[in-house]
This record gives sequence, structure tokens and C-alpha cells, in this order.
Amino acid sequence: MNKIEVENLTVRYKDGGRAFTALENVSFAVEEGQFVGVIGSSGCGKSTLLSVLGGLRPPSSGRAAVNGDPISGPGPGWSMVFQHYSLFPWMTVLDNVTYGIRQVKKGLARGEMVRLAESFLEKVGLDGFKRKFPEQLSGGMRQRAAIARSLAMDTEILLMDEPFGAVDAKNRTYLQELLLKLWEGAGPDELVVPLDYPVARGKRKTIIFVTHDIDEAILMSDRIIMLTGSPGKVYKDIHVPFARPRKRAVLIQTPEYTRLRNELFALFFNDFGSDI
Ligand SMILES: Nc1ncnc2c1ncn2[C@@H]1O[C@H](COP(=O)(O)OP(=O)(O)O)[C@@H](O)[C@H]1O
Ligand SMILES: [Mg+2]
Repeated sequence: MNKIEVENLTVRYKDGGRAFTALENVSFAVEEGQFVGVIGSSGCGKSTLLSVLGGLRPPSSGRAAVNGDPISGPGPGWSMVFQHYSLFPWMTVLDNVTYGIRQVKKGLARGEMVRLAESFLEKVGLDGFKRKFPEQLSGGMRQRAAIARSLAMDTEILLMDEPFGAVDAKNRTYLQELLLKLWEGAGPDELVVPLDYPVARGKRKTIIFVTHDIDEAILMSDRIIMLTGSPGKVYKDIHVPFARPRKRAVLIQTPEYTRLRNELFALFFNDFGSDI
């Protein structure tokens, strides 16, 4: 079943007196449980696409639907993680996560929300930092908190806009693997941080993951949608055939990985010249 359907989506911004077309006739469908990477150079409309999928911006024309229904505003069915500003600076880490849970599980008792928030902070290794404010944490820790919030909300769809873009290389690798393991529903023995994430295999969340890092896109995605600007259009839709669970260190040594990586770089340069 298609979880997300985008048909001839066009988004125009009013830029002063003039209209600027950020996305034009973008169409694709995403199956339930698919992990979709979206790549493209800066300004090609990736964030615009996510804002439409998150119900933050209506299409100028065309259609974007979740579960067959047109998206009409931010709903309880999805959560978002951004590169910056993901956490409210005036709330502690714990309150940030609890706030997220409250948005989607209004009926839950306060104590239950806190317990749930704490369990997810533990999963991402932030147990000792829950009373801190975002500014007291490193960039990597902040993104771990944002991921914890997003996963604690337990929505069917996760929209992630360059979530690891501001994180150093080592933490980025850690976070990529953590997110994959959580999404894959790995058992506690398979994780760096012991986790008991309750999502069963085969009941995975649908993830739209924006990145401009080709290696990250390959490691994470079932499929990569490459956008071209401007206006933003779908340039290529590429299947990523590697089995899961994936181990970065193993995957990057295979000839199949190198072949796909070279192909993606060639497409990227072909389309964007040297502007990555
Ligand atoms: N609120 C806005 N008003 C006018 N133009 C915008 C607005 N937001 C984004 N744009 C323009 O739309 C294009 C796509 O932006 P964006 O979706 O942020 O791209 P990306 O995330 O791929 O870098 C860019 O040229 C950007 O300058
Ligand atoms: Mg962006």
C-alpha cells in the first residue's frame, strides 16, 4: 500500500511581487515502511517538499496525500526532525521529548509521558542529560534528543531534513547506525546502546530522509529520489538493493557499493556541474 502519494506537486513562493517556483510537477509514491532518501543540491526544494508532506505548507497545485487523504495540516501521523532548531531552547531535553509525545498522545497521563520520554532518552544514550537545556549539549547530543523525541512520538511517518548535517563525522556515523537499528527494530543484543525498541520487524515506519551526502543516502535508504533544481523536479529515482541490516564498514568495501556510489556521483555531477 502507498503510504504517501505526491502527484504533480507544484509549490510557488511569493518573492516580493514575483512568484518563484520551488517545486514543479513532482510525482512519486512511497510504500508503507519504505526508507526513502531525498538528495539534491542546495535550493532544489528538498525542505519545501518536506514542509508540504508535514502539512506546514499547502501545494500551489497538484496533490500530496497520506493514507489516500490529502494532507491538510500538521497531523498526528507524522513527526519531523530538522537540521537546526529541532528542540525548543527554553525547555529541558526531557520536556522537549515530553512535549512531542503530548502532541500526538493527548490522553496519556503526565507520568506515563515522562516515563516514555525517559525510556527513549535512555535508548539514545542521553540518560544523564535529561535535565539539561539544548544549549548545554553538543550538536550530536541535540540531534540524538531530537531523534528520541521523534521516535517517542511513535508516528507512522518520520520526515527528516538533513538531521545529521551539523554533526561531526564520528557522531554522524553513530547516529546513522542508531537510526537504522531503531527503524529496523533490532533486538537489544544488536545495538551499541542497549535498546528494546518495540517496533516489530515488518512494521517499520515510513521515513523520508533528506540529505546531500551520497554515502549517507546509500547507507540508509531503500530508494533514493534525486531532485534537480530550479524549479525542483524529480531527476532520478534509484533503487538501493542492499540487504538489511546494513553495516557501514562491510557495505562500503563491496564492489556493488562502489558501483552505485560512482553512478550516483556521475548523475549528481552530470546534473549539477561542480555545485554540490
Ligand atoms: N519562504 C520562502 N520564500 C521565497 N522563496 C523561498 C522560501 N523558502 C524557500 N525558498 C526558495 O525556494 C527554493 C527551494 O528552497 P528549499 O526547499 O529550502 O531548498 P533545499 O532544502 O533543497 O535547499 C530556494 O531557491 C529557496 O531560496
Ligand atoms: Mg533544506
